[in-house]
Amino acid sequence: MEKNFDVIVIGSGPAGYVCAIRCSQLGLKTACVESNQTLGGTCLNVGCIPSKSLLNSSEIYHKSKTDFEKLGIEIGNIKLNLSKMMQNKQKSVLTLTKGIEFLFKKNKITHLKGKGVISNKNTVDVIDFSGKKTNYKTKNIVIGTGSIATSLPGIKIDENIIVSSTGALSFEKIPKKMVVIGGGYIGLELSSVWKRLGSEVTVIEFLDHIIPGMDRDISSEFLKILQKQGINFKLDQKVTEVNIVKDKAIVDFTNNKTGKRERIECDKVLVAVGRRSNIGEDLLKTGIKLDSNKKIKVNEKFETSIKNIYAVGDVINKGPMLAHKAEEEGIAIAEIIAGQAGHVNYDVIPAVIYTSPEVASVGKTEEQLKKENIKYKIGKFPFLANSRAKVNNETEGFVKIIADEKTDKVLGVSMISNMAGTMIAELALAMEFGASAEDIARTCHAHPTHNEAVKEAAMAVDKRPIHF
Ligand code: NAI
Repeated sequence: MEKNFDVIVIGSGPAGYVCAIRCSQLGLKTACVESNQTLGGTCLNVGCIPSKSLLNSSEIYHKSKTDFEKLGIEIGNIKLNLSKMMQNKQKSVLTLTKGIEFLFKKNKITHLKGKGVISNKNTVDVIDFSGKKTNYKTKNIVIGTGSIATSLPGIKIDENIIVSSTGALSFEKIPKKMVVIGGGYIGLELSSVWKRLGSEVTVIEFLDHIIPGMDRDISSEFLKILQKQGINFKLDQKVTEVNIVKDKAIVDFTNNKTGKRERIECDKVLVAVGRRSNIGEDLLKTGIKLDSNKKIKVNEKFETSIKNIYAVGDVINKGPMLAHKAEEEGIAIAEIIAGQAGHVNYDVIPAVIYTSPEVASVGKTEEQLKKENIKYKIGKFPFLANSRAKVNNETEGFVKIIADEKTDKVLGVSMISNMAGTMIAELALAMEFGASAEDIARTCHAHPTHNEAVKEAAMAVDKRPIHF
């Protein structure tokens, strides 16, 4: 077996596997080490992919009970088979992780199975599943070891009653009552899944608003929509303790402003208060420098404090912890190693929450622009006035485009819509090309589509929407 490589990538998540494929495309002899039994990292195994499977199935189930009859579809006694829903989720995970195996073979990438440990800047030891250690030589190393869920002081995740997203993707029965700590991406996506399947869900959020970092207009509208769906919210609350008594969890929390204490007894607690970089002791021993957030410090070429060792994705001090950001970085690093000009535009990284409706954004929020003293103008268009959304009974939400007051250049877009996750790509593309709101307003959009709301919001920047 080959023991000398141009590049060894540690970790096969969206950062690592994409980097490995691009390295190979560029003619570099490449290996990728993975300590999990399957390839794909958190995203494919216990993140984006299984959560989207459950979001899709639970939405169809919920709609079959609430909406189908209105559409003239009568299907009688609807029953939920959770174990089958979970099997379908696992099938999707398996198909996609196998897909990466196939891509590795196709691109002649060596898949090293086991834990990769950097012993010096040109050597990676791989400890395989039987404990056997083999060392491999390489000119370059890329660290893409991802991130792990964090918890709160004194709260221990047991993946049974107190769970991270991993546990919440595999409950064997529907929890009667569930508490979700954290109103961010994971908290809201998984609250939606279990609420639709029948749980009584309460989200406890430390701040006085949900989805921090997103535009506040979006955050407050989205909160109303989720409350209407029956999810309970306790905002501005600090969780002080979670205790397990028999097979129940007792969650204690205190209002940050009034000091009022409350308690909820429930069957499951999901802790979704963020993730931290997965940087083990062995990595620290290499002497690689970290920043104050305990992420790996990299320069503009993604190189760590050690020459020819690069880092990518959730472990580095750049951009949000998102799979597609990691993929962009993986490609850029491969191109830099191959002597090309790899680059990532951190100003144009879309973000999506895959609830129903979805929430999506790209570029700056109104709050950021205010802070940066940039003068702007806004165009908004509600889906209530979009014909396709009306036909589909999906009228919640709006598109908000923010453009530079003088130049009209698009600075940021946020939206709530059933199609937001797909629609946001149009805006990311527009921003990559430095488009103005007028450019979007003068682009012909097919009728009837949800995307017409984007054109209308762009026209609203100049106060001339047609349908509102
Ligand atoms: P997050 O950063 O999105 O949200 C964490 C939430 O917890 C925040 O609202 C925060 O204010 C709140 N919080 C923090 N401390 C708290 C406390 N003591 N009590 C109550 N609330 C508290 O993190 P999340 O949801 O855990 O997701 C982790 C990462 O995974 C994120 O970086 C996210 O970007 C990524 N992710 C992305 C998804 C997507 O692209 N659709 C889906 C799932 C995760």
